[in-house]
Amino acid sequence: MATVLYIKANAKPDHLSRTMRIANAFVEKYQELHPEDEIITLDLYKEKIGFLQEKQVLSHLEPPAPNSQDDPVLRYAYQFRDADKYIIAAPFWNLSFPAILKAYIDYVTVVGVTFRYTSQGAVGLLENKKAVYFVTRGGNYTTPPFNEYEMGERYLRTIFGFMGITDFTTFSADDMDRSATDVDAVVAQTIAKANQFAATF
Ligand SMILES: Cc1cc2nc3c(=O)[nH]c(=O)nc-3n(C[C@H](O)[C@H](O)[C@H](O)COP(=O)(O)O)c2cc1C
Repeated sequence: MATVLYIKANAKPDHLSRTMRIANAFVEKYQELHPEDEIITLDLYKEKIGFLQEKQVLSHLEPPAPNSQDDPVLRYAYQFRDADKYIIAAPFWNLSFPAILKAYIDYVTVVGVTFRYTSQGAVGLLENKKAVYFVTRGGNYTTPPFNEYEMGERYLRTIFGFMGITDFTTFSADDMDRSATDVDAVVAQTIAKANQFAATF
């Protein structure tokens, strides 16, 4: 049995979000194909994830104390560490993703829990895990020069890799705010592709 952490980052309700329509369809398909797995849904807005405060910042170079499992911030890092797979759903905002997802990453990137320092530098502690990221974008960032403007997928792939999660797949739907786009058709096509992937994820 695998534990799957479904991380949602959108202020919009699911039924109004293209990103969540795609990601929720994938999660439903995944659960149908892997009924033995446990999916934990973490809606970052409902969790009211905040920013790191003085306590966490002043101690960020030290591994947490052994009795810190119930700490209101560190518990997210332990939950993240204990998952086997990650599903991330976040729309494209201002060339990356909603700030609440960055705040969550600051919660879970914790020395001694998800990475450690060695004489050769930092090393991820999360091995043999995988992640899939769902995003929809108003415009299109697939070709130069605008591919350089895309800093959401690139950042997530890099920070997950930093923690050891190098198996990282992205499903994107682009041009969603262009009048020529048949949004429902693109959402349906992306769901179809993602659902195929659900069998092997
Ligand atoms: C706050 C905000 C910032 C956005 N910034 C961008 C952007 O930089 N580039 C872009 O192409 N689309 C941008 N968009 C458009 C969204 O990426 C697009 O509408 C997306 O499909 C929204 O996903 P959702 O329906 O899941 O919320 C932005 C939308 C919002 C609400």
